[in-house]
Amino acid sequence: MSEVQVHDKIFTPFITAGQIQARVAELGAAIDRDYAGRKPLLIGVLNGSVIFMADLLRHIRSACEIGFIRVSSYHGTESSGKVKNVMGLSDELSGRHVIIVEDIIDTGDTAVYLLDEIKKKNPASLAFATILFKPAALRHPVKPDYVGFEIPPAFVVGYGLDYDGLGRNLADIYQLKS
Ligand code: IMP
Repeated sequence: MSEVQVHDKIFTPFITAGQIQARVAELGAAIDRDYAGRKPLLIGVLNGSVIFMADLLRHIRSACEIGFIRVSSYHGTESSGKVKNVMGLSDELSGRHVIIVEDIIDTGDTAVYLLDEIKKKNPASLAFATILFKPAALRHPVKPDYVGFEIPPAFVVGYGLDYDGLGRNLADIYQLKS
């Protein structure tokens, strides 16, 4: 593996496709075990989760369903800071076993927001799966249930994660060269 350039920045190899695949297989097997007979609904957060979701799904042998949502954030006009909005969330989550599937938890803002929004729909249970987790960057007490890799708070691309729209298609994960 060699360095890659995405826009104006250089990224160095960090987690190989082989390591990712092995870990995703373990997460899929754990979900399969934990949710046997409960027909979980995996909700992917676009765009970053598409690759993780596609890989994870193929390791879940028992019946499950999928859906996707998108979260947009914009700056409020007041001093409220960032305001988030979720699109595509089904109204029919009551009684369902929901697993949110994300690419990364950084500050935890998105995770906290999504957990709150989905709880309002009265799911039977709610869990969070993420391929990457940066615990040192957290601003909220979020504890994801299924984590691929805990990583330091450096910027990464690949395996669904982008830098300004590019890099999602890289099979390996790369870290911004310091
Ligand atoms: P949070 O709300 O701060 O936890 O950030 C969640 C979102 O920020 C993720 O779904 C990503 O879209 C983006 N993000 C955070 N860190 C990175 C990174 O290192 N590379 C690419 N995207 C990132």
